[in-house]
Amino acid sequence: MITSRFVRQSLLMLCLSLIVACARISVSSEYTPEVGQDGKDVAWVPTCQELVDKMLHVAKVTPQDFVVDLGSGDGCLVITAAKRGARSMGIEYNPDMVALSMRNAAREGVAGKAQFIQGDIFETDFSQATVITMFLLESLNLQLRPQILNLKPGTRVVSNTFTMGEWTADQVATVEDSDCSSYSKAYLWIAPAKVEGTWKFPQGELTLEQHFQTFSGALKSGSKSVSVTDGKLNGDLATFTIGNVKYTGRVSGNTMKGTYESGGSTLQWSATMVGKKM
Ligand SMILES: C[S@@+](CC[C@H](N)C(=O)[O-])C[C@H]1O[C@@H](n2cnc3c(N)ncnc32)[C@H](O)[C@@H]1O
Repeated sequence: MITSRFVRQSLLMLCLSLIVACARISVSSEYTPEVGQDGKDVAWVPTCQELVDKMLHVAKVTPQDFVVDLGSGDGCLVITAAKRGARSMGIEYNPDMVALSMRNAAREGVAGKAQFIQGDIFETDFSQATVITMFLLESLNLQLRPQILNLKPGTRVVSNTFTMGEWTADQVATVEDSDCSSYSKAYLWIAPAKVEGTWKFPQGELTLEQHFQTFSGALKSGSKSVSVTDGKLNGDLATFTIGNVKYTGRVSGNTMKGTYESGGSTLQWSATMVGKKM
């Protein structure tokens, strides 16, 4: 009798010890990344939370957005975007970081909105994003730039610290928090519509040359040529001046239409692309 009680108690103790040991092993084996650890094309350094908030703020992220972080690390941008109500996705090469970011998203209660995929940013489709976030290097931003310029006009792109070469940012914001002292700037670009080429315009032929979100050109009617100045694109919204008349219009593929002011009235205009510069 005493022996069997002893055996039962011993077995119970053994089971408890095994449970505690297993729990210890699983806690200690939870992956802990180190700031500065190697990544495929760039090391892992997390964006500080104040800058994460600022980046999503300058991109005006709303629940209607689909936010994609290129090289998503521990998932901080993706998780914060999901907490703002947006659908979000992180693309991360390191599978341990992917698993960590999934655990972080679950812990923050946004696993349903924040998705993480293991993949290479140069081989993964992110064309459905309405907002792109990234903390890479300028050289990587430049490699991604042609793809970014092909995104739907109006797509917002925010980068922690690193710029896009001669494509100047539409907005720059800085945070003052001491945790962010090394990387404290958010650069915002808005993917511009494509207007370069020749357009059939009500008053003649409009030839435009585009440099990212700015453009210039000339309007030819008969032997007369007038310069197009101050051409700017905010996504698909184009504004420009011909002579002293200011035009505003929306670009949709090969058409542009909008309004201009003349003699105190607002008049309509529209144009059709007749020759695209290759
Ligand atoms: C500087 S960290 C930024 C992490 C996160 N976006 C943030 O702001 O906190 C860059 C991340 O990109 C990942 N990475 C590097 N090259 C990559 C590639 N080719 N494809 C996907 N992820 C990559 C690294 O593993 C690292 O986690």
